[in-house]
Parts: sequence; structure tokens; C-alpha cells
Amino acid sequence: MFVNKAIFPVAGLGTRFLPATKAQPKEMLPVVDKPLIQYAVEEAYAAGVREMIFVTGRHKRPIEDHFDMTFELEVALEQAGKQELLDVVHSVKPDDMECVYVRQPQALGLGHAVLCGQRLIGNEPFAVLLADDLMVGQTPVLQQMVEQFAEWRVSMLAVQEVPPEQTKRYGIVDGRAVNDRLIDITRIVEKPAPEEAPSRLGVAGRYILTPGVFTEIANQQRGVGGEIQLTDGIAGLLRREKVFAYRYEGRRYDCGSKEGFLEANVELALAHPVLGADFRRYLKNLEF
Ligand code: UTP
Repeated sequence: MFVNKAIFPVAGLGTRFLPATKAQPKEMLPVVDKPLIQYAVEEAYAAGVREMIFVTGRHKRPIEDHFDMTFELEVALEQAGKQELLDVVHSVKPDDMECVYVRQPQALGLGHAVLCGQRLIGNEPFAVLLADDLMVGQTPVLQQMVEQFAEWRVSMLAVQEVPPEQTKRYGIVDGRAVNDRLIDITRIVEKPAPEEAPSRLGVAGRYILTPGVFTEIANQQRGVGGEIQLTDGIAGLLRREKVFAYRYEGRRYDCGSKEGFLEANVELALAHPVLGADFRRYLKNLEF
């Protein structure tokens, strides 16, 4: 097993999604019938990860509750003979999956959130998944990356081409092509303006990192937006180790934004095995 642990930073404030995120975590917003965080956890599980480390903050209790046992609900479903629904409830946390929680006392940035998981990770490579990036791929995106990691044994960042006017929303990488999917990164910049962006390859919310990144994050000053940035930690790591960018196969929905969240709901509802056909008919009959 190459990557057994994953960090889910879920301590952000979710300001782009107010008022929905005023008192509830954005990671619990449901796309069709599942909260965002469950999609990310399922993706990690499919990639072989068994220890899920959630970096939480205030208002994040619902995430812990979601992956815990819901005794009253399970008894009620059992008594009502609703086995199918009971299976749905049980499938949220398979028996061989462990969930661990650590608090980020203040939302000081993504890099700082990842650093909060250092003691739980120890000295092994690990994944980072941002649940607000909902990824859909025939092979789950993290699994694609774990396969690459098994071959190359270097840190991997998921990347995609972004429109020039959107470079300031992403970490942007520059580097040399290793093959048509992998890039050996020479530079990474957080949220550059289009004229300063070294390329149009933007980092999406999936990473496999070697533990050396912790020292690098700890050495960082606050970066863009006054936050301790993961990108700056990775830039430090680049001076010591190879870091590859991986052009993933699949589709990403930015569910931290209202537009991306709506797109995800429509497209995943259309693809839903039970709801899809009726929903398609409903959309066709809508008058615009
Ligand atoms: P975002 O950049 O989306 O920030 O963080 P945010 O605060 O969640 O949302 P907006 O921009 O205010 O709407 C990317 C990921 O990093 C986590 C978030 O929970 C999200 O999954 N994060 C960010 C932390 O865990 N801690 C932080 O201090 C910052």
C-alpha cells in the first residue's frame, strides 16, 4: 500500500457560499443526495486510503456526526425493515475505514490546515483532498494519481488547463513534460494575474505529498491573502525533491462557488441511475 492516509482540510470559512455556510460547513452541502465530503471520502477509499484525517474548525460538528454511528436512525430503520436504507447508512463508513479529527484553531490558510495533520501523518506519503472540488472520472482521480505515485514515487499535484482570465483563482505550475500526462514542475505560483502566470496549468484539489512538505510549510511566512499557503510549502519542497503535476482524466466541479455547485447538481442528477431519466424529462419540459 503506497498511500494509506488522507487529509481533508474542512476548516475554511466558505465565504463564497454565504448565507448557506453561515452555520453549516460547506463540505456538508449535498450534491443530489450526498454531501460533498462523502464524495471526497469515497474517492480516497477507492484509491486504497483507509485512514481519513479531517482538519476541522468551529461549526464542523455535522461532518463528525456524518461519519459516526447514528444509533436512533439505525434502530428505527431496522425496526421498520428498511434494509436498503440501512445499507445506505452503513455504507457511509465501511468497517475498515478509520476517521480521525484534528482541529485547526484558526482558519490561517490551507497550508496551515495541512500542517495541523502532521503528527497524525508521521513520516509517510499522504493524500490531500479538497472536498469542494468535486471530481468525477471513470477511474477516480485520486486512484489515477496513486497509480502514478506507485510508479514515480514523487509528490503529485492534479492539474488542468484553466482559462487565462482565471489564473488568479489557482496555484499555477510551470515545468517540463515527462509524458503527455506528467509535468516535472520547475515553478509554482499561487493565484498569479494572467500576465504573470507561468502557464495555464492550474492545480485542482487533489495532491499526493511526501512528508518533507511539512517542514517547508512550517518555514513559510503568510502568503497571498495573508494566509499560510500550501502552494508556498510545495514551492519550498521543489528545491529539495521532484514534484510532478498530473493532468487528470475527468471532470471537476468547483463546488466552493455557487455556479460550480449548480452545474454539479444538474449534471450528476442527469447521470443518476434512479433520478436521471425523470430529471432529464423535467428539464426538457422547462420553459426558458
Ligand atoms: P478555500 O480557498 O475554498 O477557502 O479553501 P474557504 O474558506 O473554504 O472558502 P471561501 O473561499 O471563503 O469561500 C480550500 C479548502 O481548504 C480548506 C477549506 O475548508 C477548503 O476545503 N481550508 C482553507 C482550511 O481547512 N483551513 C483554512 O484556513 C483555509
